[in-house]
Amino acid sequence: MKKEALIQHKTPYYQYNLDLLNQTLDLAQTHALKYGYHIHYALKANTNDRILEIIRSKSFGADCVSGNEVKKAIEKGFAPNQIAFAGVGKSDEEIGIGLEHEIFTFNCESVEEIEVINDLAAQHNKIANIALRLNPNVDAKTHKYITTGLEENKFGINHWELESLLTKLPSLSHIKVTGLHFHIGSQITSMTPFKNLCIRVNELNHWFLERGVRIEHLNLGGGLGIDYQHPTENPIPDFELFFGVFNQFLEPQPHQEIHFELGRSLVANCGSLITKVLYVKKGVKTNFVILDAGMTELIRPALYQASHFIENLTSDSTEVEFYDVVGPICESSDCFGKKIALKQTKRGDFIKIHSTGAYGEVMVSGYNLREQNPVVFLDERF
Ligand code: LLP
Repeated sequence: MKKEALIQHKTPYYQYNLDLLNQTLDLAQTHALKYGYHIHYALKANTNDRILEIIRSKSFGADCVSGNEVKKAIEKGFAPNQIAFAGVGKSDEEIGIGLEHEIFTFNCESVEEIEVINDLAAQHNKIANIALRLNPNVDAKTHKYITTGLEENKFGINHWELESLLTKLPSLSHIKVTGLHFHIGSQITSMTPFKNLCIRVNELNHWFLERGVRIEHLNLGGGLGIDYQHPTENPIPDFELFFGVFNQFLEPQPHQEIHFELGRSLVANCGSLITKVLYVKKGVKTNFVILDAGMTELIRPALYQASHFIENLTSDSTEVEFYDVVGPICESSDCFGKKIALKQTKRGDFIKIHSTGAYGEVMVSGYNLREQNPVVFLDERF
């Protein structure tokens, strides 16, 4: 990439490749629609306006985790009857937003929450459709901070609470249980946890069937991982394989709709963080490349030990050296990677941190009063 093109924009900045976004979305829809599956885009991964508009234009539903995400989805044209609203701690005000817009479903995480939604729905004179988020106790085999489907996690209703919940349901006259919801974690790259999820969902679905509860939809959540190490060779996740696993192992009843909530797999690879080298500093054991982007722009490495592919876009050198690539923030965890192979790097070089379209821009923080620069879309051609 030409340096003149890069210097038009103030670094650090997020850059989105909209061609890749379009291709990824189209492939995901094609493979989901083969089986009649519905995809709700998990807004939490990226709420950039232009990205939302593109996703919306391809008939995805929305998966929201706050009242503001519900509002944003509606403002961007997502149909309320395609909006799922999840989260362990929905406030009364947020529940009110969902009720007012008569959204597709509240994914409920506890008996206590269901009782509150019932009371609020009664006040609004509405019947709220809810899905029970069940904790399947399936190990996603991913980082512990993004594992959600184990009994030790705060998410979902545990199986031992179901019997008493069912006896309570008839007294909750302003809610209707329409679905079962599951989400075992994020950045899952093996299909085994998804197969295990299907087996557990079949058991739980059967449990409700035996008790005469009609479940209209099964929501399997999100979690499909991407290839962070080889984003150029492997830019689009294997949606065919992913949906194929559910088609093979899930045993829905004929009337049941199947829903998914994908975030990362749809948007991660279309985003990059472009940053400039401020200094190359000699260390004792290693040399440091100090960037103008830090954990304030991309917190994933500091928070989850995530590693993103890092590339020097402008070095002409044929030599490769190893560097610790760090940010400017006064925290030792402000490090994008240790012993990273880069073309010999100098002050002023432009660096691309790949696969930052998911959980990148949305997790930017104002720590140290850092500035946020405008985003660049690659169709505005360099
Ligand atoms: N549904 C529910 C209920 C979720 O909690 C999540 C993500 C998703 C769907 C979307 O999952 P995805 O398809 O994106 O894996 N900030 C972390 C990821 C947190 C994921 C939280 N829940 C990261 O940067 O890795």
